Amino acid sequence: MILPIVAYGDPVLRKETEEIDKDYPDLDILINDMFETMYNAQGVGLAAPQIGKSIRLFIVDAEPFAEDEPELEGFKKVFINPIIVEEEGKEWKFNEGCLSIPGIREDVSRKPDITIEYYDENWNLKEEKYSGLAARIIQHEYDHIEGILFTDKLSPLKKQLIKSKLNNIAKGNIKVNYRMRFPLLKSK
Ligand code: NI
Repeated sequence: MILPIVAYGDPVLRKETEEIDKDYPDLDILINDMFETMYNAQGVGLAAPQIGKSIRLFIVDAEPFAEDEPELEGFKKVFINPIIVEEEGKEWKFNEGCLSIPGIREDVSRKPDITIEYYDENWNLKEEKYSGLAARIIQHEYDHIEGILFTDKLSPLKKQLIKSKLNNIAKGNIKVNYRMRFPLLKSK
């Protein structure tokens, strides 16, 4: 089932998320729905707060980047209760976007190498290292479960420049070709 994606301005994108356990109801269905929702919106990552659930869960599938970055072939994963234990290296810029913030893309600086601990969809505990674009996608989604959006990382000037755009997103004054839920949309 395709779920509506929560737009910028919704408090759920800012809330502290909670860890889940094996008893979390219908987790398989939720994960399937998140993949369906992400593919429908042509995203490469989706975090639970973006579909209104304040839990430590995100998914990624970087297949769309695999043509340019062969090491991303098959990079499809579920991260449950993740913790980034280390971030290293010299920061690099990449032009990021977000399904909750349609129509805005900006360069964001992040460190290139990460170590992450998490449970996969079968509740196997993993510790893995990622770098480059794979790390980037994980860092962006991880920020979501920490209540952080990529626009928070921009310079004060850039923030000022996109302020009205962000406001329009919250109000639903944008064109978007997937289902969204807008916090400030007034029903007409
Ligand atoms: Ni995002």
